[in-house]
Amino acid sequence: MPSVPDIRIHSDGQAVAHAAAELIQEVGKEAVRAKGRFCIALSGGTTPEILYRALTSPVFAGCFDWSKAIFFFSDERCVPPNDPRSNYALADKTLFTPLNILPSQIYRMAGESSDPQAAASEYEQQLRLATKTVPSAQPALDLILLGLGEDGHTASLFPGASILRDHQRAIAATQSPKDPPNRLTMTLAAINRASVVLFLATGVSKAGVVRAILDPKNEAERQLPASLVKPEEGRLIWLLDRAAAADLPMQSQRTGA
Ligand code: 6PG
Repeated sequence: MPSVPDIRIHSDGQAVAHAAAELIQEVGKEAVRAKGRFCIALSGGTTPEILYRALTSPVFAGCFDWSKAIFFFSDERCVPPNDPRSNYALADKTLFTPLNILPSQIYRMAGESSDPQAAASEYEQQLRLATKTVPSAQPALDLILLGLGEDGHTASLFPGASILRDHQRAIAATQSPKDPPNRLTMTLAAINRASVVLFLATGVSKAGVVRAILDPKNEAERQLPASLVKPEEGRLIWLLDRAAAADLPMQSQRTGA
């Protein structure tokens, strides 16, 4: 039974990043206790940067044994890994390098590939192997980090895309109305298998779409990609700042700090 979204509102982006860092370390420690490792998928976009910087800051550095973490990506832009638009490039600069994460701990999507479909299949195989997933099942990660676009997209799952109805594949090549057009993305089938799905959304530009996702008024809003993120057994957590939560009805708000 999909869980009810746990919506937590914090004063600003820094407070959201701090809360996200705490939550990720908490989920990480539990996963390591239970299985000896922590499988996490990182999001793209700009919002995660404040989180990555929080995780490598003196407040959090040293609070978690990152040598136990295995990193995946919930999506990637089809650009080379040193391109400033690359989600890997941001994570490498602001998280992997500062934390001395080994290359063997990182499963990067090959955004540079000239054949995105082949790159998607290749990554799906790597993901299934790394998570020891049987062919009939979807990979189940411990935590998947997601952002939110103003049009309701998440990862690289855009409104109206046929991939939203694909329940077979875990990874797919898709098209984006935003630059860069070619993308690789986790599908809803894989995202909704996670133990924890953590959405981060900050800033007034997200207020309208946050309301549409968390307090939908019509079928179109219920069919937005981010609305279709409903973990089958896992937890769904939204960390918002006050600006992004501004249009939410009072009763759905739970203040964090
Ligand atoms: C991407 C992302 C995308 C992102 C949203 C929000 O690669 O673009 O995965 O889904 O999370 O577009 O982006 P911002 O955090 O920059 O607002």
